Amino acid sequence: MNIKRRLHRIGPVFPIAIILAAASMALQAQDAVDFFRENCTSCHTIGGGRLTGPDLKNVTQRKDRAWLVQFLQSPQAMIDKGDGYALKLKQEARDVVMPTINGMSLARAELLLSMIETESKLPKSQFVGLQISDRPFTEQDVELGKALFMGHKKLANGGPPCVTCHTFNGAEGFGGGRLGPDLSKAYERLQGRKAMGAWLYAPATPTMNPTFKKAALKADEEILPLLALFESTARAGGEDDRTGMAGFFAAGFVVAVLCLGLFAVIWKARFRGVRDTLVELSARKVLGGRS
Ligand code: HEC
Ligand code: HEC
Repeated sequence: MNIKRRLHRIGPVFPIAIILAAASMALQAQDAVDFFRENCTSCHTIGGGRLTGPDLKNVTQRKDRAWLVQFLQSPQAMIDKGDGYALKLKQEARDVVMPTINGMSLARAELLLSMIETESKLPKSQFVGLQISDRPFTEQDVELGKALFMGHKKLANGGPPCVTCHTFNGAEGFGGGRLGPDLSKAYERLQGRKAMGAWLYAPATPTMNPTFKKAALKADEEILPLLALFESTARAGGEDDRTGMAGFFAAGFVVAVLCLGLFAVIWKARFRGVRDTLVELSARKVLGGRS
């Protein structure tokens, strides 16, 4: 009787516990998805071919899980150990070593691998990556890229125009913002069309990621023309040597001088007007006194 009553009291706790457990699993799965999007998509796709790193589709069938969990926590250590499989991966990646990812842990590595397993089974993973045409760039692409960069054409998903923070050789007006680097040579730095396209698809930097995560660039409509622009600026060579701020201040100075000059003319005219009437008045007085 006593026990029965107690059970009765605990009763509702079970469904709640199950709901909580399910919710926490859902949260963890979501965490793995977010973590992957922010930290891995610049180098990996799931089913979209290799970028800097290998395509991760079915990776857990290629290599045992224990090894992968260890590798994820410290890629360099695996290579330093002379592990044959790791060395082969590194060679295929043209000697790029996967960095140790901030926030990686044993638990997270397990969650990520489970998530990759699930995504690998889908006909089309959300991480197939950028699906973009590989047709040759045209002059129109470059022009469209410029318009998007300068903000003459709005980005479809509402991202701020690149010119707010960046400049390049050939940017109009006073050049662009200085918060981000000059992008004239970014096409070389980021290793060409495919890799830079993937980079723009998921910009993995502290400033751009939060901004463009919710305002992803469109593949053929935006990333392709921007790539065309950066390919042409890299070919042109050089960087934007105007210092935007100096140009801005020089222009401000010229405007200020012009304004001062204008005021001077206006004031002079006004003083002359007043003085002229005074002179006239006193002259009249003098004359009047005489007459
Ligand atoms: C800067 C690029 C880069 C980033 C970012 C990156 N990786 Fe890698 N990854 C590589 C490279 C390159 C390799 C191949 C091994 C090597 O050379 O270090 C690799 C290998 C792997 C492998 C083994 C692949 C296989 O075929 O066995 C897994 C799994 C993996 N990465 C998962 C991840 C996950 C998960 C993340 C995000 C938390 C991530 N990587 C982030 C570059 C990257
Ligand atoms: C809010 C400011 C801001 C906007 C808007 C912005 N960026 Fe950036 N970008 C940065 C900053 C800052 C960096 C340097 C890395 C960091 O600190 O995040 C950067 C880095 C980059 C890089 C890497 C350069 C390199 O050599 O490693 C590229 C490429 C890039 N941005 C392209 C773009 C493009 C294309 C656009 C427009 C669609 C854009 N950015 C819009 C701030 C911005």
